[in-house]
Amino acid sequence: MTSIKTRRVKSQELFTEAQTLIPGGVNSPVRAFKSIDGSPIFFKKAKGAYLWDEDDNRYIDFVGSWGPMILGHADADVECALKLALESGTSFGAPTRLENEMAAEVIKLVPSIEMVRMVNSGTEAVMAAIRLARAYTTQRNPKQTKIIKFRGCYHGHADALLVQAGSGVATLGLPDSPGVTASAVQDTILATYNDTDELEKIFKQYPGEISAIITEPVIGNAGCILPEPGFLEFLREICTKNNALLIFDEVMTGFRVALGGAQARFNVQPDITTLGKVIGAGLPVGAYGASKEIMSLVAPAGAMYQAGTLSGNPLAMTAGLTCLRKIQSPEFYQDLEKKTLYLIEGMKAVANERSIPLQVSSCGAMFGFFFSDKPVRNYEDTKYVDMNKFRNFYLAMLDHGVYFAPSAFEAGFMSAAHSYEDLDQVLKNFGQVLTKL
Ligand SMILES: Cc1ncc(COP(=O)(O)O)c(C=O)c1O
Repeated sequence: MTSIKTRRVKSQELFTEAQTLIPGGVNSPVRAFKSIDGSPIFFKKAKGAYLWDEDDNRYIDFVGSWGPMILGHADADVECALKLALESGTSFGAPTRLENEMAAEVIKLVPSIEMVRMVNSGTEAVMAAIRLARAYTTQRNPKQTKIIKFRGCYHGHADALLVQAGSGVATLGLPDSPGVTASAVQDTILATYNDTDELEKIFKQYPGEISAIITEPVIGNAGCILPEPGFLEFLREICTKNNALLIFDEVMTGFRVALGGAQARFNVQPDITTLGKVIGAGLPVGAYGASKEIMSLVAPAGAMYQAGTLSGNPLAMTAGLTCLRKIQSPEFYQDLEKKTLYLIEGMKAVANERSIPLQVSSCGAMFGFFFSDKPVRNYEDTKYVDMNKFRNFYLAMLDHGVYFAPSAFEAGFMSAAHSYEDLDQVLKNFGQVLTKL
């Protein structure tokens, strides 16, 4: 049988061409497969749990476009709604009924949100959330401008947050990025996720200066790292005690770890929430929301400026709304979580049988695994991960038609379309691959 590898000729040709046209041949760095010394696959089609590349190889997909595809690819209801919406025009740059419906849905589902503003990406949502936090805290105290961010959390590519970010930044080993000036990050303080003592010290060191803590409530951009019991509650308390705001960046965890996001799952309410990915069902959407009091600062209700030509785009709202309405059945998240545990515990058992150290974790429909014999509780612990093993594992799984994220520092995503047959296939391949590692 010819292996998939030898049949990825068209992807290779397209990548060679792309490198002459697009920086690094890709429109987002982690797609380049650099951390595993590979060559990216060019896809042409997706349906359900599967992707097809330009050479017609089929892959079981756990990337899900980096999170949005919780229903699986090309969901029939989303497609149908989009086709209908297309007939009414693609953008008006004016308010629509759909935006009211989307806002009402988000407010209903996400516990801490009373008002919401739609934007076009997660990066945009986070940029606005930071500006909003500072606008809020400096009303009372002009010095309250600093933001605490955890190493390994990725919050998009806005300058102020591109310091020790996870995701592609971790993958490429860039501590930060050229072009980000010292002044852009001078109000960003780095902290260690799951370390409460360090946070106490930071608040003591900068009395009255912390505007907000921003965190991924479950880190999904350095693998999948869970908050230890009490950690999110601690964040809530220390922010409240210091009149600082707590921002949950739920771009990844929103509608992914539970219907109401991590804040519903862990029962901790942030002041500001950012959303993205699932809320657009594969179209470019982001959002940020908070209490009415905080959101009333946003223009034109208030003075904090934020705008967008395509914000609330009717196609994006249609796709997102159709998705949000489909994921509300009580069984939806139970089924997803069951499948995620089946896969991740199955992988752990397969690794144990072969005495290969593997750390696994999951939360709702997101999961991660590290080839490491030490538990990973923050970004600092990822230095123990066996990158070479990950690389060999990754390329071999690809040749079996299993598509995980091409980096040891990314989460995996389960969709409603994955079947237990798919998962059994993956576990079987995983065993075959580990035996040869
Ligand atoms: C937690 C988190 N925040 C923000 C972003 C940035 O979102 P986008 O890529 O849509 O700009 C991401 C992207 O992966 C993310 O995972």
